[in-house]
Amino acid sequence: MANPFKPTAGMTPPVLVGRQRDLDDFSYALDDGVGAPGRLMYVTGARGVGKTVMLNALGDLARQRKWQVIDETAESKFMQRLIETLRQSPRRGIGSVTLPSASMSVAGTPVDAQVNLGSVEFEAAEHALNFRMAMTERLDKLEKKNRGILITLDEVQASSLPEMRSLATAVQHLIRERRNVAFVFAGLPSMVEDVINDDVLTFLRRAERRHLGDVPLAEVRKAFQETITQNGKHADADTLDTLAQATNGYPFMIQLVGYWAWRDSQANTRDSQDELTIENACEGIKQAKIKLGDMVHGPALDGLSAMGRDYLLAMAQDDGPSATSDIAKRLERDLGYANVYRTQLIKEDIIYQSSYGYVDFKLPYLRDYLREHGAYHQMRKNLSGSE
Ligand SMILES: Nc1ncnc2c1ncn2[C@@H]1O[C@H](COP(=O)(O)OP(=O)(O)OP(=O)(O)O)[C@@H](O)[C@H]1O
Ligand SMILES: [Mg+2]
Repeated sequence: MANPFKPTAGMTPPVLVGRQRDLDDFSYALDDGVGAPGRLMYVTGARGVGKTVMLNALGDLARQRKWQVIDETAESKFMQRLIETLRQSPRRGIGSVTLPSASMSVAGTPVDAQVNLGSVEFEAAEHALNFRMAMTERLDKLEKKNRGILITLDEVQASSLPEMRSLATAVQHLIRERRNVAFVFAGLPSMVEDVINDDVLTFLRRAERRHLGDVPLAEVRKAFQETITQNGKHADADTLDTLAQATNGYPFMIQLVGYWAWRDSQANTRDSQDELTIENACEGIKQAKIKLGDMVHGPALDGLSAMGRDYLLAMAQDDGPSATSDIAKRLERDLGYANVYRTQLIKEDIIYQSSYGYVDFKLPYLRDYLREHGAYHQMRKNLSGSE
């Protein structure tokens, strides 16, 4: 029997836990008509919190309404790819909408002045215009049938900024022209922050923000129960509690725990073929923690500055929340300096302020992961003299 759990980035899970409200809001925005605020949205949150699968789910809502959905990743040349996709759309009928560059106009610039534009600026302006034209052409047809276009843009990051500007210019026009469109983009919190704070992209600040976080354990438990029973096994109340608690409500961990527990129940059918036992659950949780380290903690730490990592290592010496003043001491820095990193880590959803003057880990099992890695011991050794 195929394993129903999907611990793979971007893979739609058997049950999308705890996100009904977001989906309902987007459905409302689609049905509410042109200009509904929820049609311009950005989705942020830590790695593995479910941004990509959220984009997929939002796309499904639009598809159900017969919208055209274009999913893109904000890697280099995404504007070009969007334009190509729009032009390849079925039932097009009209020829290319590329304008000869001589007839392009850039806001506030006489046509003649264009030869003076730098090539990058020129390309950006051309992309914005071509994209807008391609959208308009497509929308002219779709809107007759009350349909629209949703564009989702995943993995938005600092390097996407120049192209985001072209996209934003075009989007702004399309919205102003009251076209039947929706845009949703997603990225890590700090990345999206950079984009939102860019001067040229100010209008994106008005976009609705969905900061995805942990999901309630009761819903996690219910999802385990449904998924396990619908796939021909049974788990008792204790086992379900154990599975749910081990996830800490972190979406990626739901799939990891489910996957490895299910796998163990297939390999080790100590009791019966149809039962997912507490032993299976415990073994699954053990495996899941190891995988979480490889797949989430490792990459998350790699993406931090050396000082950011040191800050986390200093936190890992505590068994619970850490006083920010203690951390500064351990880092041998003043509080102001240490707080710069505290702020960054909070922004990245890696830690959170648990109470005034205290921080704790937000990514589950990160403390254990840090403790198991050599750097922790090294630091501990260095500090043992000073404490
Ligand atoms: N609400 C949810 N309920 C259950 N499982 C989920 C949920 N959201 C995401 N998952 C699962 O978590 C994993 C990670 O999801 P996804 O790849 O969408 O995260 P992400 O936020 O895009 O991560 P990254 O920042 O690395 O791109 C996938 O295995 C997915 O099936
Ligand atoms: Mg993703």
